[in-house]
Amino acid sequence: MSFENILVTTENNIQTITINRPDKLNALNKKTIDELSQAFSAADKDTSIKAIIITGSGQKAFVAGADISEFASFSVEQGKALSAEGHKKLFDLVQNLNTPVIAAVNGFALGGGLELAMSCHIRVASDNAKMGLPEVSLGVIPGYGGTQRLAQLVGKGKAMEMIMTADMISANDALSWGLVNHVVTQEELLAKCNEIANKILSKSSVAIASAIRAVNANYTDGVNGYAVEIDEFGKCFGTEDFKEGTSAFLEKRKANFPGK
Ligand code: COA
Repeated sequence: MSFENILVTTENNIQTITINRPDKLNALNKKTIDELSQAFSAADKDTSIKAIIITGSGQKAFVAGADISEFASFSVEQGKALSAEGHKKLFDLVQNLNTPVIAAVNGFALGGGLELAMSCHIRVASDNAKMGLPEVSLGVIPGYGGTQRLAQLVGKGKAMEMIMTADMISANDALSWGLVNHVVTQEELLAKCNEIANKILSKSSVAIASAIRAVNANYTDGVNGYAVEIDEFGKCFGTEDFKEGTSAFLEKRKANFPGK
């Protein structure tokens, strides 16, 4: 697959996707969203890829938002379609991927950029990162899941304040609010994400996919998360990974999961 706006590299079962429009602070235009959607879908189908890291190119930005130049003249119908398509193609896709996704937030993560990071399963920020949902400054609201996922991560009160003031918060505030899991220097950022990914890839990928479905179930309307957990837990007992994991423990050796 060849892409114009993203770079994709795979090493040691970890795929790194880099959004590559540094002169536009990696703003998400339609083409970039389409390419990300294709890359994430392909990675999820490739069983050799056990974790995905997503980051932005350059020193300044993860993603500075949706590309404002593309939607400035949109009508009500076009605005609604833009949001609905984005949810489906990228943000819900990432949240529900079987493969764990780690956001390496290397600078500004604003609007759609923070929404993309929040769709990922884990977030690590560099200490220069700034995060916010500034959409009300433009007369619009977050439209790629931000009103929902920010409240889930930091609580309703802080989400309301961030959205209403359009303020950016620092990486350390994001850490203390639970918006990111770790803060490191920019130089250490990809190494930290790879360290987390390496821990994940020594574990059962089928159990990890089950865990993602069970955790996400709590945030899905009309779905009982406990019931999904019971179902997913039971399904694990039918996998080769479960047989290998339990045998390895009992035989006092390291598990070598087949990923089935
Ligand atoms: N959409 C389209 N282009 C964007 C963009 C966005 N969301 N964010 C940045 N860019 C472009 C700028 O237009 C500029 O392009 P140009 O050089 O062709 O004029 C380039 O990226 C660099 O941005 P600039 O504003 O010059 O950098 P800065 O360091 O002065 O400011 C920000 C950085 C992030 C504070 C500022 O770019 C900004 O506020 N961006 C918009 C953030 C936003 O509202 N996001 C939510 C969108 S819904």
